[in-house]
Amino acid sequence: MRCIVTGSNGLVGARLARLLSARGHEVLGLSRGPRRVEGAFAYRPCELTDGTAVLGAVREFRPELVFNPAAATDVDGCERDRAMAWAVNVEAVAHLGRGCAEVGAHLVHVSTDYVFDGEAGPYAEDALPNPRGAYATSKWLGERAAQFWVPGATVARTAVVYGWPAAGRPNFGSWLLSSLSAGKTVQLFEDQWVSPSLADSVAEMLAELGERRLGGVFHAAGAEVVDRLTFGRALCERFGFDPALVQGSRLQDAKLLSPRPRHSGLRVEKAAGLLSARPLGLGPSLERLYEAFHAS
Ligand SMILES: NC(=O)c1ccc[n+]([C@@H]2O[C@H](COP(=O)([O-])OP(=O)(O)OC[C@H]3O[C@@H](n4cnc5c(N)ncnc54)[C@H](OP(=O)(O)O)[C@@H]3O)[C@@H](O)[C@H]2O)c1
Repeated sequence: MRCIVTGSNGLVGARLARLLSARGHEVLGLSRGPRRVEGAFAYRPCELTDGTAVLGAVREFRPELVFNPAAATDVDGCERDRAMAWAVNVEAVAHLGRGCAEVGAHLVHVSTDYVFDGEAGPYAEDALPNPRGAYATSKWLGERAAQFWVPGATVARTAVVYGWPAAGRPNFGSWLLSSLSAGKTVQLFEDQWVSPSLADSVAEMLAELGERRLGGVFHAAGAEVVDRLTFGRALCERFGFDPALVQGSRLQDAKLLSPRPRHSGLRVEKAAGLLSARPLGLGPSLERLYEAFHAS
């Protein structure tokens, strides 16, 4: 199939573009500025907030599938610049959705557990979103924009995505690996519960959701909900790092500009029941991370 993958310079987009081309699809990556990730897919620089540029790319390539992992993902950055968060996380989704509607493409839009307030996680797909902060709110409105333009769209929410090597900015896992392998101490929240999600596994779930055109909301995340400190300790154990390097801190004491969900986490029974790319537990995820780290 002909597939567009936005954010192909980013953590999820890079892996997804490579995976889809390895599965025989014809892939065009769209991202900002020059290409920063190698792979057997075509690339076109495209500012996604520019509706003319987005519609031009879609009309020319005429995709059957459009995947949208691109986003303004700097949570505090979105708080500082709400106009930017709106433009990238809402308006750009509308441009893409409009393009999909015009050429009849299916849209797989990537969203986040931050659409929930984190008072009562883990959350199922039908739980009521209550986003807090500019990033969270813009991502929630982005979901609505995707569904407005493409009523049968897939909205795939994920959470705390990590992978090695990092594409673009460091991610939670690559930061931990770089710090711990250099013998540096890290502070991790012991009072924030999340669904750590291996980027390669997220890409596999997204690819299948698109290929099968499974519409509606899906949680495409890791299969276990843990606090960040527990994740760090599990990573130390698998990699043989000194566990004393991982120390606990508290989200409620952190001075963060934008609010973070505390009891978050995504329930993944729906994906586990329907997909052959099943959500991975912590053990198998860390195993794959270990292999990737030692292969690089
Ligand atoms: N990472 C996580 O922990 C996490 C957790 C929950 C949900 N998610 C969601 O998962 C998706 C993928 O996240 P990720 O970690 O792969 O993000 P990422 O690494 O930050 O990648 C996002 C990509 O989108 C590109 N982009 C941003 N604004 C753009 C614009 N205006 N025009 C063109 N390209 C633009 C970025 O370009 P630059 O490289 O030039 O900035 C970057 O390559 C996002 O929708 C995010 O909200 C992520």
